[in-house]
Amino acid sequence: MDVLDLLSKHRSIRKFKSDAIDDHLFEKIILAGQASASSSFIQACTIIRITDATKRKDLRELAGHQAYIEDAPEFLVFCADLSRSFQCCRQHYSTPVEGLTEQFIIATVDTAIVAQSTAIAAESVGLGICYIGAIRNDPFKTSELLELPEHTYPVFGMCIGYPDEEPEVKPRLPLNIFFKTNVYEDKNDEREISAYDEAMLNYYKNRTKNQKQQSWSEQMAGILSKENRPFMKKFLTSRGFLKN
Ligand SMILES: Cc1cc2nc3c(=O)[nH]c(=O)nc-3n(C[C@H](O)[C@H](O)[C@H](O)COP(=O)(O)O)c2cc1C
Repeated sequence: MDVLDLLSKHRSIRKFKSDAIDDHLFEKIILAGQASASSSFIQACTIIRITDATKRKDLRELAGHQAYIEDAPEFLVFCADLSRSFQCCRQHYSTPVEGLTEQFIIATVDTAIVAQSTAIAAESVGLGICYIGAIRNDPFKTSELLELPEHTYPVFGMCIGYPDEEPEVKPRLPLNIFFKTNVYEDKNDEREISAYDEAMLNYYKNRTKNQKQQSWSEQMAGILSKENRPFMKKFLTSRGFLKN
């Protein structure tokens, strides 16, 4: 499959075969992720591979009991990490300016880019992945379990393994809404979204698993009207981020 085809066929996998991933292949996938671009070359990401069965179980529990966290052959936690760069700063007798919002953005973006390259690398060799944002349901406990130092935080987890299901690809927003030219022109967005709502209703009604009767805009209304993880600011500040 060529890369364009591979990317457009992405779907999250939540059921995995028990087959292990060959060590050499796994290392190549990690190295491919690490080769990503990095803001100011800070390389502000650390990946933690969870092989310990008790830690997997604990992470599954705190992340809403999602079975695939325990069942996937591999589970990775992608951490935004400024700790070693701050250490370099001190080593060279300069005082790091800590807690800047810009640093938080840099570390989070670097981490997301590494993760997505890792995901594509994995999918390119026939593996499936699922991001797990739910490890931030209890980010204090996640950080404690992984013994994270200050100036790091767990952004999300990722299950990786050989797919044992073949879910349908989820339709994305119409291109006109997602991709604009020169300015943010949105006069047709409402109409386009209602057409998309129809397409999503159809998708959810007809997919092979977890059918439901919900449009995309209804889904957004449900998600964005809830105060989701309101402890996040306190958590990030406690880890040395977002102080200024
Ligand atoms: C940052 C992030 C966190 C996510 N967290 C979860 C999660 O905790 N559990 C889960 O089952 N899926 C999770 N997902 C997967 C999304 O639900 C999925 O990507 C989205 O519904 C689109 O479906 P698709 O990936 O099959 O195209 C997450 C995705 C992202 C990008």
